[in-house]
Amino acid sequence: MPSTQSLTGQTAIVTGASSGIGRAIAEKLGAAGAHVYLTGRTASAMEASRGKIEANGGRASIIVADIRDPRRVYELVDRAMADTGRLDVMVNNAGVSYPGKVIDADPEQWRAMLETNVLALLAGCQAAIRAMRQCRAQGHIVNISSSAAHRPDSGVYGATKHAVNCISNTLRRELEDDSIRIVNIMPGAIATNFGRNFEPAVIANLLGAAGLKLEVKRGERLPDEVFDKLQPLMRQLLGSADDVADAVLYAVSQPIHVDVAEIVVRPPKQINL
Ligand SMILES: NC(=O)c1ccc[n+]([C@@H]2O[C@H](COP(=O)([O-])OP(=O)(O)OC[C@H]3O[C@@H](n4cnc5c(N)ncnc54)[C@H](OP(=O)(O)O)[C@@H]3O)[C@@H](O)[C@H]2O)c1
Repeated sequence: MPSTQSLTGQTAIVTGASSGIGRAIAEKLGAAGAHVYLTGRTASAMEASRGKIEANGGRASIIVADIRDPRRVYELVDRAMADTGRLDVMVNNAGVSYPGKVIDADPEQWRAMLETNVLALLAGCQAAIRAMRQCRAQGHIVNISSSAAHRPDSGVYGATKHAVNCISNTLRRELEDDSIRIVNIMPGAIATNFGRNFEPAVIANLLGAAGLKLEVKRGERLPDEVFDKLQPLMRQLLGSADDVADAVLYAVSQPIHVDVAEIVVRPPKQINL
């Protein structure tokens, strides 16, 4: 059950806020009163979230950025600090997966996963710690890892999430004497656009099992309505992005002497992504 402690007066940044888990987190933090900086590559999706947050009396700002360049991440934090004078919550959520055998893979896909899932997250952690120290925040840094980090053979994507766990654990030790907590969230399979780079037939099969027929093109997002229908039909196998966002709100609403170090959020049946 999420704490109802208000985040009013706090500033939060969410990367990958244009879809799925990041969008749900941004909307949840905005509804709890934080001024949320949403960042991603797709402006239109973030405009819709800003509309929802503002309609509820909240505050939201959008920064379109490709965070594979770490300089964009430092700029994000600088912008939030320049506008509001503070940073209380940093959610390093943006991530991509290109599943497949190592032996067959395109190294550019390894680069995309490493730059997005690891390098951008590291830059986000470093920039946020510096900003939180500067404004003397009682801050929370939330890193979105994956249950794939619990498996020893989860491919190059899984390797990036093992790296996320290692970075979170390392920073938690480094920050024991600071007023900054590191929260590592490991979702299981969640109904989002995460599968956009999967083999289209795999996604089509999943949709077919729920009775949904749709043309699936590699790299393209599915309409929101598909997830609205799919997730309730498949809730034994697919969690909802809101479930993960509830966990994030719970963690960042705790007082600073409570260290919510790790949370696994998964549906009852496990599928390995
Ligand atoms: N869904 C799952 O089953 C699952 C399970 C475990 C962990 N996760 C993790 O959860 C996180 C969120 O994924 P999701 O499931 O919500 O997938 P999603 O719906 O595909 O959302 C991914 C988000 O990351 C953003 N992003 C990707 N590359 C980016 C870049 N270079 N620069 C800026 N933004 C970028 C996307 O922005 P654009 O769309 O605008 O490009 C999008 O907002 C990821 O770290 C993922 O590894 C997901």
